[in-house]
Formats: sequence, C-alpha cells, structure tokens
Amino acid sequence: MTDYALIVKQINAFAAVSSDAISIMANVSALLYHSLEHVNWAGFYLVRDNALLLGPFQGNIACIKIEKGRGVCGTAWAEDTVQVVEDVHAFLGHIACDSASESEIVLPVHRAGEVVAVLDIDSPLPARFSAADAEGLKQVAQTIEQVIC
Ligand code: SME
Repeated sequence: MTDYALIVKQINAFAAVSSDAISIMANVSALLYHSLEHVNWAGFYLVRDNALLLGPFQGNIACIKIEKGRGVCGTAWAEDTVQVVEDVHAFLGHIACDSASESEIVLPVHRAGEVVAVLDIDSPLPARFSAADAEGLKQVAQTIEQVIC
C-alpha cells in the first residue's frame, strides 16, 4: 500500500522552498509516478480559457486539450467529483491517450472554491485504484491546494 502520509510530508517539504504551482505540480507528478506501483501516467491538466490544458506530468505524451465534460478529466472538472474508473473501456467518452491504460483516477484541485486543475493517474491494471487510494490521493490534492500560490 502506498504511504500517502509520507507523500504529503514530501510535498510540504518541497513546497516550503517555493509555492509556484507549476514547480509543485511537476514534482508531485514525479513523486506519484515513482511512489505508486503499476502506474503508467501521472500528472495534471490545468483550467485555461474554459478548457483543460495539459500541465506537468510523467509518462507518455498525452492529449493537449480536453473540453469541459469530456472524458474522465473533463467529467471530474464539470461535476467537481473524484472519478475512480475501474475499466476505462467501459467509461463512455473516455479519452485514450496511452493504449496501456486500463484504469484511472481523477481528482479536482481547487483554488478559492473553483476547480483550477485535475490530478490524473492511469494504470495498466484494471481496478488499480482502491477506496484507500482515493482517500490518500484526496489528501494529496488537499495538500496541493494548501501550498500552491
Ligand atoms: N483518459 C483521460 C485523458 C487524459 S490521459 O489519461 C493522460 C480522460 O479520459 O479524460
């Protein structure tokens, strides 16, 4: 099981150096990509001009722009909900960036009550993300919300 408490501590440690959102998201992408087992993509999409634009990530190249309500990311943004998708092939409108992805979790990141980004993690295993992962990653998203400027 991933040590999410340790991940939160590490985020707070590098956020003490700078609260720049891009720098923090870049390091969080790398931290999650290397700390979670069976993950092929971890990163952020940023709300820009009423769409999601690709932000810092680790993994294969991905689609640059996602419209509100489209795919798992656009749904998490539009509904302001955490999306845990056990089988991406069964998710209507799923956007396939990496054909290796079988399951996915997407969490909204807020600033002043608005969704400003989503955190997206893909796995090559079906049903990779448990309720415990969703809970741990909510702590990660909350920590990012507290530290970014
Ligand atoms: N699968 C996502 C698109 C982003 S990639 O997974 C990196 C979606 O359906 O929104």
